Amino acid sequence: MKINTRLVAARTLVRVLENGQSLTTALEHTLASVENPQDKAFVQAVCFGVCRYYHRLQFMLIQLLDKPMKDSEIYALALVGLYQLAFMRVKEHAAVSETVFATHKKSWAKSLINAILRRYLREKDAIELSINDNFVALHSHPKWLISRIEADWGQDVAAQIFHANNEAPPMMLRVNNLKNTREDYLAQLAALDIEAQAVDAHPCAIHLLKPIGVGALPHFAQGAVSVQDTAAQFAAGLLSIEAGHRVLDLCAAPAGKTAHILESQPDVQCVAVDIDALRMLRVETNLARLNLSATLIVGDATEPKTWWDGRLFDRILVDAPCSAIGVIRRHPDIKLLRRETDLSALPALQYAILNAAWSMLEKGGLLVYATCSILKAENEHQIARFLSENADAKEIPFHLDDNLAKHGWQILTGTQNCDGFYYARLRKL
Ligand SMILES: C[S@@+](CC[C@H](N)C(=O)[O-])C[C@H]1O[C@@H](n2cnc3c(N)ncnc32)[C@H](O)[C@@H]1O
Repeated sequence: MKINTRLVAARTLVRVLENGQSLTTALEHTLASVENPQDKAFVQAVCFGVCRYYHRLQFMLIQLLDKPMKDSEIYALALVGLYQLAFMRVKEHAAVSETVFATHKKSWAKSLINAILRRYLREKDAIELSINDNFVALHSHPKWLISRIEADWGQDVAAQIFHANNEAPPMMLRVNNLKNTREDYLAQLAALDIEAQAVDAHPCAIHLLKPIGVGALPHFAQGAVSVQDTAAQFAAGLLSIEAGHRVLDLCAAPAGKTAHILESQPDVQCVAVDIDALRMLRVETNLARLNLSATLIVGDATEPKTWWDGRLFDRILVDAPCSAIGVIRRHPDIKLLRRETDLSALPALQYAILNAAWSMLEKGGLLVYATCSILKAENEHQIARFLSENADAKEIPFHLDDNLAKHGWQILTGTQNCDGFYYARLRKL
């Protein structure tokens, strides 16, 4: 039976909008019934696109409706239809007729979807103009998030961040230097006609010009490379790890940074801790693919006494749980799922983890605090407070471009094509 991809997309979006599922989890469920790779790619493109432009599409839809819609599947289908017409290179008549057809057994909705989409095509210019007067629709972000980002960075920089958040993210690789050099791997990609470039900002990073499945990457299964944004690749280097060091990776799952630490210096004793046992399983799989090993502990970083043997560490990475506002371009469903209230407890948790980590650091040791957030409350404000409360902590500045923070290094989303990220480096005196 032919799969109706618009219906699959609408049902995926209902899982996100109604049930609060992440888009990744929702797609795992709904794509299980889709076999054709092109159909899968279409559903994914539509779902990511609708999440990216949800706030704009919602604003457009309100103008096209006489009264609010009650059926969540048909509501999602209307968004799917509008997204195709406003953003995709799908022929208009195909987008309308296929979306109408996707109303499936709900025959009452055929005329409604048809009317909405045809009215959009007739009134497109006026609707597009009206978007400019509504900043939620224009930036396609929730109002509270616009306010938070503008409060931290000012309107002009914030507008650049919103724009970067709405771009499709680049596919970046991290070359495993234990297996091959970046030049070797670029040559292997070129031999397969996979277009790629070395990234200036980091010696391990490669930009794949067209995203592809990891199965098509040479020697991926043997651990030649991993998929990781350039911004995340700075963590291992900032730790300045030397042979023989005891390294603690606190909040480690799924081990993107643990793996990079071990690839850059295999002669270390590395302990990786995470509170989430399920995510810890992914650590095992990821390290096994790369043929790396670490001591894995499922534990709460704020309660070291429940799992720590008391031996101090020379290096500690705190990759703190955060709002993930810096990776919205990779996870646009964050804009739909995250509430402002979700953010209120995070700084306290991050600070508690930082304090606990500090108690496990050797004198003279280095701690790197990282988040994939661009909010000051999770980043430089935390470090400013920590420095003011801990006389034995000294910030070790590092010279990198575009440093916008008073403490640490804030990478804003899109800068050098990176995800939004924050790093600070502290030495224990
Ligand atoms: C940003 S992610 C870590 C990403 C990881 N470092 C990497 O590079 O692949 C944050 C992690 O913190 C973990 N976490 C949250 N609260 C924690 C706690 N109290 N103790 C330990 N881990 C925690 C989450 O389970 C999540 O895996």
